[in-house]
Amino acid sequence: MTLSRRDLLAASAALLAGPGALQRAAAREQPAGGPIVLCWNENPYGPSPAARVAVSESIAQGCRYPSDEELAALTGMLAAREGLSADHIVTGTGSGELLCALGLLYGRDGGEIIAAQPTYQELTHYAERAGAVLRWLPVDAQLRHDLPAMHAAVGARTRAVYVCNPNNPTGTVLPAAQIRDFVRSLPAPVVVIVDEAYMDFVATGASGSVADLAGSGARVVVLRTFSKIHGMAGLRCGYAIAPPQIAADLAGARMSTANLYAVRAARASLGDSQFLIACRQRILASRARITAELSRRKLRYAEPQGNFVFFDTGMPLERFSALMRERGILVGRLFPPFDTWCRITIGTEPEVTAFLGALQQIGAGA
Ligand SMILES: Cc1ncc(COP(=O)(O)O)c(C=O)c1O
Repeated sequence: MTLSRRDLLAASAALLAGPGALQRAAAREQPAGGPIVLCWNENPYGPSPAARVAVSESIAQGCRYPSDEELAALTGMLAAREGLSADHIVTGTGSGELLCALGLLYGRDGGEIIAAQPTYQELTHYAERAGAVLRWLPVDAQLRHDLPAMHAAVGARTRAVYVCNPNNPTGTVLPAAQIRDFVRSLPAPVVVIVDEAYMDFVATGASGSVADLAGSGARVVVLRTFSKIHGMAGLRCGYAIAPPQIAADLAGARMSTANLYAVRAARASLGDSQFLIACRQRILASRARITAELSRRKLRYAEPQGNFVFFDTGMPLERFSALMRERGILVGRLFPPFDTWCRITIGTEPEVTAFLGALQQIGAGA
């Protein structure tokens, strides 16, 4: 599909016009008759109109490698947003590539990595394959990272601590001040890897980024992605913010080169603030709708701060997933030991309506 500037303006107007227009725009992207995909924490409204134009206008350049200047332009934009120099930024093929590279850097040769249970496992899985020793610390009663327990677990062999804030799959967030104190309290060789993939969905005042710590030389790596609020999961672009020496080590451990379309789309999307604001509003409104219904049904849930909700279905997840699948809805996988809990991605408004209708049919909760 090729979008003209006129299409872009029309798409932006539709996006901002209200849920109906936005739903129709998103619905056009769904394969007809396919299931409702609420299992990957994607943003169904993306990519932004500006990113779509950037990609469609670049199709003919697919025969070229992205130039160093192009990549530097994206890195420069990201650095300027953080108020840091460009040597603090490392871009990757999704933040997933950078998580794997960090797992390799700190996990190889028996390096010990501390992580919450449950949490996002891209770094930990990769690190284990590279010979890491993983120390898992259960989340606390509110399903948040238990920082005191993680701190107590740090030992002579610990090389990194992974903190996913907000956490996937629980959706819970820790205040930025707690993460800052945690980073400062650890012994020098330990690096804290803070994954902020979902930070853009956090309720105002509940938390914030700690990326500025990288500028003060603290041993911290902050990860961000274009896959969530920017709605570009299929394009694959993410980045890390770290002190220059750590950033250089991380850049050296990457395994792919930049994707031309992703780089151009990312630059365009960063400038499309109307789209980003609209996505946040829609997703937070749907999140409130889901939690209101879960409360009404007396189903427990963890305080959600991402574009997904983790809740207790009251039945084995395997059964719940099968009942949802029968109704054409794909939900998140099992996250042990939460055997009755489900992670549901916040889709478009009609998709949320379909999910809530299915909950009603299944008779989950009260
Ligand atoms: C917490 C977290 N970090 C990182 C990623 C990876 O994102 P990507 O590789 O698409 O940037 C995900 C994907 O779902 C995630 O949930």
